[in-house]
Amino acid sequence: MSAVKLKGIKLTWLGHATFRMITPRGTIILVDPWVMGNPACPAGEKQIQRVDVMLCTHGHGDHIGDAVEIATKHNPRVVGIPELCGWLTKKGVKQTAEMNKGGTQEIADIKVTMVHADHSCGIQDGDQMIYGGEACGYVVEFDNGVRIYHAGDTNVFGDMAIIRDLYRPSIAMLPIGDHYTMSPREAAYACNLLKPETVIPMHFATFPLLKGRPAELSRLVEGVEVLEMKPGETVT
Ligand code: NI
Ligand code: MN
Repeated sequence: MSAVKLKGIKLTWLGHATFRMITPRGTIILVDPWVMGNPACPAGEKQIQRVDVMLCTHGHGDHIGDAVEIATKHNPRVVGIPELCGWLTKKGVKQTAEMNKGGTQEIADIKVTMVHADHSCGIQDGDQMIYGGEACGYVVEFDNGVRIYHAGDTNVFGDMAIIRDLYRPSIAMLPIGDHYTMSPREAAYACNLLKPETVIPMHFATFPLLKGRPAELSRLVEGVEVLEMKPGETVT
């Protein structure tokens, strides 16, 4: 049994960097909409039934691969950096809610803060590579006081200490796969900067290159719960 404190929030990992969070009032948030094309997403979760808010960390296909299809079908508010939102608008997404790093906006019953990530952000559009702004992470504050940090794709960076000082997330979703993002070694260092109560490893094992594993992270950290979820699993 996990010690994670969610106070009525339902959190489901859909594999890779994709999470669904349902607020105590029932708002459905999808972070990094990659489900139909996501080999780690369980078959029963590949059809999104409803989504109210979509948070996009950056323009790579393993994060926004299904953003256009899901957003045009369900018409959620779609949060992203302006260059990415501009591209999504061109593709027919109606309700973008652009913002940039350091900003916070209220959407439905959550407050969303866009924070730094250290990663690239081109958007592959057919045979073109479109400028997608920069990659980011998000801190989501729920109206029950819980704050969750989704790091997006990133290496570890010293300013994670600022994220801790200003926003104090109790839960951190960190990539650990290595190669394209942090390894468990860097993620352990990130835990020392962020000091969350719970860390949820993500962005590993989807492809053979993503070799980092939660057990390695567990060996390297102290005083933080490493919550190893299975794709499709929900914690409440
Ligand atoms: Ni990426
Ligand atoms: Mn990625």
